[in-house]
Amino acid sequence: MWALIRAGWRFSCRGAALALVLGVLGGCGEEPKDGPDRAAAAASIPADAGLARTYDTSCKLCHANPASGAPLTGDQVAWRPRLQQGMDSLLDHTINGHNGMPPMGMCMQCSEDDFLALISFMSGQHLQ
Ligand code: HEC
Repeated sequence: MWALIRAGWRFSCRGAALALVLGVLGGCGEEPKDGPDRAAAAASIPADAGLARTYDTSCKLCHANPASGAPLTGDQVAWRPRLQQGMDSLLDHTINGHNGMPPMGMCMQCSEDDFLALISFMSGQHLQ
């Protein structure tokens, strides 16, 4: 009996616990409230391990969180008008900040190349 309950708890809560760690859900067994973009943004991670670490500890805090007002990772509709400004503006806004976007996106050790790779990853467009 207890084993069954424990197994049931594990089954229903493991996903939610993981999601909680990622900051996605408020409670056990709830569906994400803001639709697929939020879940997709939370699940996306760069393939390169070093970049993944940087992303995870900086950009992701906001760019996988709709409440921040940041264009979400993988949300092509949100990124399109931003990409249209051209790469120079995007880099300038990343390095110097832009409205709610903090200077350097909270990655003080990032190089321009890192930012380009991170913006490429988040926007789903290959940029150089
Ligand atoms: C503290 C939250 C926060 C963090 C951390 C953050 N961003 Fe942002 N970012 C924002 C917000 C909010 C916007 C939308 C700003 C606006 O246009 O009003 C934004 C917008 C952007 C834009 C679009 C700028 C434009 O010109 O439209 C780029 C590019 C960007 N972020 C890159 C990054 C990168 C790269 C990182 C990680 C190194 C990062 N951000 C980390 C909050 C954040």
